[in-house]
Amino acid sequence: MSKVTSSTLLKFKQEGKKFTALTAYDASFAGAFDSEGIDVLLVGDSLGMVLQGHSDTLPVTVDDIAYHTRCVRQGIERCLLIADMPFMSYATVEQTLTNATVLMQAGANMVKVEGGKWLLESVTQLTERGIPVCAHLGLTPQSVNVFGGFKVQGRDSDNAQRILDEAKALEAAGAQLLVLECIPATLAKAITQALTIPVIGIGAGNDTDGQILVMHDVLGISSGYIPRFSKNYLKQTGEIRAAVRAYIEEVANGTFPAEEHTFN
Ligand code: KIV
Ligand code: NA
Repeated sequence: MSKVTSSTLLKFKQEGKKFTALTAYDASFAGAFDSEGIDVLLVGDSLGMVLQGHSDTLPVTVDDIAYHTRCVRQGIERCLLIADMPFMSYATVEQTLTNATVLMQAGANMVKVEGGKWLLESVTQLTERGIPVCAHLGLTPQSVNVFGGFKVQGRDSDNAQRILDEAKALEAAGAQLLVLECIPATLAKAITQALTIPVIGIGAGNDTDGQILVMHDVLGISSGYIPRFSKNYLKQTGEIRAAVRAYIEEVANGTFPAEEHTFN
């Protein structure tokens, strides 16, 4: 049971083996996800919504992410652990280096940042100094107020082209992984094929190299609303570990995400 690293994920991509990611925020759930075979765990700033009850991710702090990263780190053996850099914690290169250091020292293997061209210098500097970067394009929730709501991105051809160009530029700058959130499946497929690095989708169709979901959605405990691109696996299995295995299996065999979870 060797540890998952960025090299492992690259090999999965080259072999066409679909891999699975989940968010996690504490040692117990993270340990269960790890032992059932999830490859990547993300301490997402989604914790602002699912743990703290806010309506977006903006209130989350570096200390919040660091605390939950330390918790998750205690519970896992095999997974690659990514920590989200929260809103405005990477506004300048200087801030980025300082705050990413905190998250790496809390136990992350990689940090995730939302955005395109403006981040290229930060991505390069982090990578050169030993901090691997996961980029995040499409519906980047920290920009919800710029987008005017949680809306699918990249639907018109100008925006689609911009996202593709930014994905290539982030890879060239040194990013080792990319998350694509809520974009049309055809665009996600084109980006996945254009890049050497692995691409993880959420609401991005089933042609990306891996999938990620928020654990609360998978376990059907997000209050009220479950996003259309997500799936409640607890409902069909009745048991948490079985739900995680069903998610892994459906990603591996290509049945999740299905058409009903996909934007066109
Ligand atoms: O914060 C989060 O959970 C995320 C994933 C949805 C990709 O960024
Ligand atoms: Na996030």
